Amino acid sequence: MRHLLSVQDVSENDIFALLQLATEFQKNKINSVNQKIAVNLFFEPSTRTKLSFMVAQKKLGFESLDFHQETSSVQKGESFYDTVKTMEAIGADLLVIRHEDDHWPDRVKDHVSIPIINAGAGKIEHPTQCLLDLLTIYQEFGTFQNVRVAIVGDIIHSRVAHSNADALHRLGADVYLSAAPYFQDNTFSYPYITIDEAVRTCDVIMLLRIQHERHDCFTGGIENYLEQYGLSEERGKEMKKSAIILHPAPVNRDVEIASNLVESRQSRIFKQMSNGVYMRMAIMTLLLQEWGIKHENIIEKRQQFRTNKQTGTM
Ligand code: CP
Repeated sequence: MRHLLSVQDVSENDIFALLQLATEFQKNKINSVNQKIAVNLFFEPSTRTKLSFMVAQKKLGFESLDFHQETSSVQKGESFYDTVKTMEAIGADLLVIRHEDDHWPDRVKDHVSIPIINAGAGKIEHPTQCLLDLLTIYQEFGTFQNVRVAIVGDIIHSRVAHSNADALHRLGADVYLSAAPYFQDNTFSYPYITIDEAVRTCDVIMLLRIQHERHDCFTGGIENYLEQYGLSEERGKEMKKSAIILHPAPVNRDVEIASNLVESRQSRIFKQMSNGVYMRMAIMTLLLQEWGIKHENIIEKRQQFRTNKQTGTM
């Protein structure tokens, strides 16, 4: 894995390596090493992704640089491409990028010599959210095989849905979709079920935020959305006792989910946020290792790395 631009590029081996590494970070088993510079280039708003990347970078001992589009030379007309190239030129070791363009990775991935992490590309990809969701599901069920996951909500505008559906399917989960007719994306091959069927039969109810900022074509109202299509308190009672609720957040309380369910026994919404830090530590570590920018920092493997180097077996 040279960059993390799409979940489709992450092999199953790398997914399980990331799940293990994130869990080891969670248990504090791994020390951080020498300082590197990570630049966080967010051209769209973010709370969780940007700040959890920054927390992860600090835990790894990185110098973490924040970028503010509104006070940058973007305001003087500097392009996205030139902004990215500038970060590389001034010494960034790693870039974390979010941009509204669905296809921004294609504009830069072959033109920089440092790893790039996709922190959100338009409506198409949010791979780090996907990987932290995978961690949360795996820690709950210990497997993906035959875990029934319903992705529910504004599917057509959701990069989270697009990243998660295929990754979950690839790992053996049974993926279902549930959405109001105006939020359905019929390019997916997964079956649509009603929200009532989803809550009765699924192990994971993965809710999506209504993405008002991406509704350039959709002008419909969302009156009675919770009652018709959302996870209401009544539907919460119909869930399997072992089932969990996920939501990438930010949450529209009482729109896609009843406010009381956000912090309910079955909700893992805040666990997802905590897991985001450890998964992002794992992703950055793996990428820097792949590029040879940072040596292995698990103590046993580092010793092995030294031994191999001394014996010339590398
Ligand atoms: N889940 C997520 O991407 O949240 P932010 O937009 O706050 O980063």
